[in-house]
Amino acid sequence: MKRNQSFANLALLLLLRQASVACADILVSNECAFGILSGGHGDFPASNSIKEGVTIDFGRMNQTTYDPVEKIASIGPGSSWQPVYETLEPHGVTVTGGRAGGVGVAGFTTGGGNSFHSTSHGWACDNVKNFQVVLANGTIVDANVDEHNYLWQALKGGSGNFGLVTRFEMYVIEFPDPTKPNIWGGIAQYELSAADDLTDAYVDFVENNHLDKNSSTMLYWVYTHSTRSLIVQVAMDNTLDISYPPVYDRYLNTSGLIKKSLRSAPMYELTAEFDVGQPDGLRNIWLTGAYKNDPRIIKFAADKHEELIAGKRAGLVSQDSQLVTLCSMFPLTQAMIEHGDANGGNAMNLEAKSRGENGVLFLASLAIDGAKNEAVALPIMQQWQDEVDAYATSLGVNWDWRFLNYAYAGQDPIATYATDKIRAASEKYDPDMVFQKLRKTGHRIVA
Ligand SMILES: Cc1cc2nc3c(=O)[nH]c(=O)nc-3n(C[C@H](O)[C@H](O)[C@H](O)COP(=O)(O)OP(=O)(O)OC[C@H]3O[C@@H](n4cnc5c(N)ncnc54)[C@H](O)[C@@H]3O)c2cc1C
Ligand SMILES: *[C@@H]1O[C@H](CO)[C@@H](O)[C@H](O)[C@H]1NC(C)=O
Ligand SMILES: *[C@@H]1O[C@H](CO)[C@@H](O)[C@H](O)[C@H]1NC(C)=O
Ligand SMILES: *[C@@H]1O[C@H](CO)[C@@H](O)[C@H](O)[C@H]1NC(C)=O
Ligand SMILES: *[C@@H]1O[C@H](CO)[C@@H](O)[C@H](O)[C@H]1NC(C)=O
Repeated sequence: MKRNQSFANLALLLLLRQASVACADILVSNECAFGILSGGHGDFPASNSIKEGVTIDFGRMNQTTYDPVEKIASIGPGSSWQPVYETLEPHGVTVTGGRAGGVGVAGFTTGGGNSFHSTSHGWACDNVKNFQVVLANGTIVDANVDEHNYLWQALKGGSGNFGLVTRFEMYVIEFPDPTKPNIWGGIAQYELSAADDLTDAYVDFVENNHLDKNSSTMLYWVYTHSTRSLIVQVAMDNTLDISYPPVYDRYLNTSGLIKKSLRSAPMYELTAEFDVGQPDGLRNIWLTGAYKNDPRIIKFAADKHEELIAGKRAGLVSQDSQLVTLCSMFPLTQAMIEHGDANGGNAMNLEAKSRGENGVLFLASLAIDGAKNEAVALPIMQQWQDEVDAYATSLGVNWDWRFLNYAYAGQDPIATYATDKIRAASEKYDPDMVFQKLRKTGHRIVA
């Protein structure tokens, strides 16, 4: 839900971190149900705002400052990534934030966060040096490698289950040329007939990503009902600003290219352009799964997507002119996963789930107008995702892992994460289970 649609009865505007402390005290002593709202990009109803209770709105805590000596960016939870990039780029640095500048810092980072820099630097959460956190009892703590280490690790993926994060201190990444904060990249759009070749090129890219960690990709099919068109697109990026690195040759040799926006440009320009077909005011359904990097899964998921939009199921398409659906694939490489342990450990559990293999993160997403249409769409989307899961299971390549940032309510991502770590941190830092019982939004430990 976007901020301007928030239907909170009472939105507390937190100007100071002390207000978060007072707020935690008031909510806890009154046993008041609450929700946590930062960037507001959570993808299901009750991701962030709450109707009967208090929405803790971090929107005004949106400052970014940079310490060039320590090379640390301090970022307020309520910011979106775009102003973070714009603040940091004059210093010749950036951070592992969203590809889409509009996404919020706090939900994205505490849920993991994948970015242009994922293979070279890991998830966004792996790049957090320190979280400043207000605990349920009102105490402010710093969670980092030396202090409250367990909380630090649990917050790297475990989302809003332990406390209110009031500041993110992140390691920065220097641009190769600090006077020119450019990366190379953009999007290439192809005829649908290119999809199989692009899928093979994508799988090949993922297997070889460790040889060029500064390049990243995404493969996705987009259906837009207003134009009645289904297209396939590839995102290609290189964070060292190298134009046309050879890893993309196979994509670029594929026939059926319609248009491309590949170029060298300031990173904030690429992130401003990237708002993957999610018009404002529509309702979103996102469902996710993770599998071994196997072209059969990708092709199966894309075929089922095509079936869905061909309207074979329940007349979904004919009902709505605003429908947008995406079938998206993101790399989950070992090169990326390794950063978790190397940077002190996170709660994402991919070391265990991936069994040393490279994977594909699947996102089935839909945007549609109105609650009525959403209700029609939900079982159709769930069936699509279930079928992909079942197919992967039948091939023995289902990781049984759900990326929290892409998971729908009920997909229970926390159950697939490092649950021992998460439960231990919850028992220690939230013994009264305030963030399980009174927090009514987001993904909880007790689903
Ligand atoms: C257009 C679009 C593009 C996206 N692109 C990406 C992408 O490239 N990579 C990626 O990984 N994800 C991406 N996402 C998913 C995104 O990361 C998640 O939806 C994330 O939750 C958004 O964070 P937010 O702060 O905007 O969300 P909110 O809805 O405000 O918060 C989501 C949840 O985060 C927790 N939370 C929020 N603030 C705090 C806090 N201060 N302290 C503790 N917990 C808190 C709460 O549990 C809350 O329920 C995208 C989403 C959209 C809509
Ligand atoms: C912070 O939020 C305020 C209020 O919404 C807004 O006016 C301001 O531009 C934001 N600042 C940044 C850096 O995003
Ligand atoms: C990726 O970039 C980093 C600098 O950010 C560099 O040290 C490294 O060698 C690059 N890796 C590859 C494989 O190009
Ligand atoms: C792409 O095409 C060029 C020119 O035809 C060829 O030299 C190159 O080997 C091809 N690369 C790949 C990866 O297919
Ligand atoms: C608050 O909780 C933390 C973590 O459980 C604990 O270490 C601290 O002593 C508590 N503080 C107070 C004032 O109760």
